[in-house]
Amino acid sequence: MKTIKKLPQKVKGLEGSIIIPGDKSISHRGVMFGSIAEGKTLVKNFLTGEDCLSTIDCFRKMGVEINLKDDLVEVEGKGFDGLKEPEEILDVGNSGTTTRLILGILSGSNFHSCLIGDESIGKRPMNRVTSPLRMMGAKIDGRKEGGFTPLAVRGNPLKAIEYVSPVASAQVKSAVLLAGLRAEGVTSVSEPAKSRDHTERMLRAFGCEVEESGLTVSIKGGQTLKSTEIIVPGDISSAAFFLVAGAITQNSSITLKNVGMNPTRTGIIDVLQNMGAMLSIENERIVNFEPVADLTITSSNLKGIEISGDLIPRLIDEIPIIALLASQANGVTVIKDASELKVKETNRIDTVVDELTKLGVNIQSTDDGMIITGSKTPLSGNQVSSYGDHRIGMMLAIASLITNGDINLENPEAIAVSYPNFFNHLEQLSKF
Ligand code: S3P
Repeated sequence: MKTIKKLPQKVKGLEGSIIIPGDKSISHRGVMFGSIAEGKTLVKNFLTGEDCLSTIDCFRKMGVEINLKDDLVEVEGKGFDGLKEPEEILDVGNSGTTTRLILGILSGSNFHSCLIGDESIGKRPMNRVTSPLRMMGAKIDGRKEGGFTPLAVRGNPLKAIEYVSPVASAQVKSAVLLAGLRAEGVTSVSEPAKSRDHTERMLRAFGCEVEESGLTVSIKGGQTLKSTEIIVPGDISSAAFFLVAGAITQNSSITLKNVGMNPTRTGIIDVLQNMGAMLSIENERIVNFEPVADLTITSSNLKGIEISGDLIPRLIDEIPIIALLASQANGVTVIKDASELKVKETNRIDTVVDELTKLGVNIQSTDDGMIITGSKTPLSGNQVSSYGDHRIGMMLAIASLITNGDINLENPEAIAVSYPNFFNHLEQLSKF
């Protein structure tokens, strides 16, 4: 049965402050790297979204003891060789990061394993990781010649490669680097533009040596990870929804605390600043090995811009909410070089354009992005769908703040994938 949620109607404004929940990418990595490290790793401010819970579940099935209490995770790592052959199928749920990074770990294991995910995962290309992993000697089989889940992996000795990735993808880079830890020789990955570097930063925190030169990252095989303590910063991709909400809703001024400001992720800040948003960055600090700050955003007069090139990997997950932002700017916003959107949880070019069109936005899809002609007028109400994509669901919920008439959102529960308390935060900030 389809769940439908009536979204909070047009508000008088937004005010107050919230603490942004933990970063999804960093939470996944904390559990994964803790599991293959030797000794007990603590992950603080862990994101208890469904994706990260899928990662915990997969490693528990490989015999790793993982305790989760609120947002604290204790991982009893026993080293790479301490992982056990899972008796059950590893279920990655909706999580692309779990699927792709775990393939890098399973490839060099000494056992057999099977991976399955939900309907959306079944449509997402896995050959971008299975292909370089096979070059390293991985034995991976699966649907459409190992291009899609379900997948089966037979652990095998690996050899290092110098991989030139056709896409700027942290998931590809991370999978190859993780396999490289088990391979003989030095493995390197070069990418066309810099993708998020949480793997490189966190591997160093676990005592590994990782070399970086321009767009190439290299790692020597045979290194062991030593347990550590990770403090996960707030997820800028979650903060993005409220940054846009504050900018486009009248009579608003809100503060978002503990936002991760890793430069490979701050494309949304550049976009807001270039569009003329009233944004201030305060209390900049380094927590653990990642930069963090508090952000205050105020209702803004915005102008349309072009978003393209190397900026795209720095804001790839924020494009749905940027499309809504652009709908409230003066002038045209062009988003290009973003065909990666087609292989996210949904085809986000189609889902963004279809759903925003239903709300009256002037938006057209292109082959590698979209064109939005903005105007600062309220959107119209309609029945819309998340299509099971958390970021589409949250974008539509933020749209409801500036809509005349009701928005009914199909499948709102998808939002729990990355932001379980999203609606509580929205309500907390809303003035009715
Ligand atoms: C992620 C990398 C990005 C991003 C995804 C999380 C990660 O994907 O879209 O939500 O944690 O490494 P790609 O690396 O495939 O672009």
